[in-house]
Amino acid sequence: MAKSCTRRRRGSATGLVVSNAAIRPRFYRLQLRIQGSGSALFAQTQPGQFAELQVSSLSVPPADQIPDGLADVAQRQIILRRPFSYCDIEVENADSVRLDFLYCVLGAGTVRMTTLKEGDPVSILGPLGNGFSVPEGKKAAVLVAGGMGAPPMQHLARSLSENHGDIALTVIAGARDAESIPFATEPDGKDDAIIEEFAPFAGEQIVTTDDGSFGRKGFVTVHLENWLTGAKYRPSEIVIFSCGPEAMLAEVAKVAEKHNVDCQVSMERMMACGIGLCQSCAVDVKQAGSKGAVYKLCCKDGPVFDSKDVVFGGKRQNI
Ligand SMILES: Cc1cc2nc3c(=O)[nH]c(=O)nc-3n(C[C@H](O)[C@H](O)[C@H](O)COP(=O)(O)OP(=O)(O)OC[C@H]3O[C@@H](n4cnc5c(N)ncnc54)[C@H](O)[C@@H]3O)c2cc1C
Ligand code: FES
Repeated sequence: MAKSCTRRRRGSATGLVVSNAAIRPRFYRLQLRIQGSGSALFAQTQPGQFAELQVSSLSVPPADQIPDGLADVAQRQIILRRPFSYCDIEVENADSVRLDFLYCVLGAGTVRMTTLKEGDPVSILGPLGNGFSVPEGKKAAVLVAGGMGAPPMQHLARSLSENHGDIALTVIAGARDAESIPFATEPDGKDDAIIEEFAPFAGEQIVTTDDGSFGRKGFVTVHLENWLTGAKYRPSEIVIFSCGPEAMLAEVAKVAEKHNVDCQVSMERMMACGIGLCQSCAVDVKQAGSKGAVYKLCCKDGPVFDSKDVVFGGKRQNI
């Protein structure tokens, strides 16, 4: 039986910005502190769950601070909240919790988020969706992250090391190129490149870029395949957790199936409500006993799914 992963209560709270630092021109790390009654709820957040942040009232930054190519979209009006995975959570005391988010600046909402500064209030709805779960009998977990799929993996790595210390942890994290890794990294290019944020938790790291500009060259899925082929564990003792672009998740699922290893994937969809009301975030899943698919809601039934259940690239994919 799986541990954790039960759906939990959700609520809204106001977080105050602790910091909002640019890691790279397009990547920011936002830290919010929630104090008082709302903190207990957010302290329960499971890795893989997400939050909806209210960003519509934020102002558009001055023109010279808007990244190239986003000047027009930055002016668009925003109504809906924006979903973000928790990248890390620190329960500071019984009355205070700090939530970290890593975000990529790519549209009207995230451009506005760059203007947040210490002390600013942000309305946050969460914790939403389900989270990753740890099946019984596992001795090794492989966390496979692609590009902006990395944030929930940091939270998961911390949680696994704190709550499942007997499980050996390997992180395989990749991106298109060095500039697309959403963490600060020193120029390197060697096989033993690491991401500092995973270092306290993972016994092993394999950092990759498609073009070899940082870490090892090649797709994370190739390195996953190599790792599984040389693994000293039985397939039933291994679990893969993955987050990243859907095409990558589909490949991760194939590799997992080939090696007969359990695999959970965190899916992404455009989300309007984030709480199961608008039906905008459908994910096609296989229907037991039939060749057809039914749809589940990414925000409510996911975002984490068993990889064997997902119809990747299904008709309902909207991103
Ligand atoms: C469960 C979940 C967790 C997420 N976690 C993170 C995270 O940790 N960090 C992070 O940077 N982003 C994350 N995202 C994506 C993030 O929600 C979008 O990038 C954000 O909403 C874009 O808002 P915007 O107003 O800046 O861009 P918009 O103007 O809304 O869109 C700009 C561009 O981004 C694309 N886009 C919008 N929403 C998504 C989406 N959900 N997925 C992929 N592309 C999208 C649009 O198609 C468009 O091309 C997550 C999304 C989901 C569903
Ligand atoms: S975002 Fe509205 S139902 Fe999922």
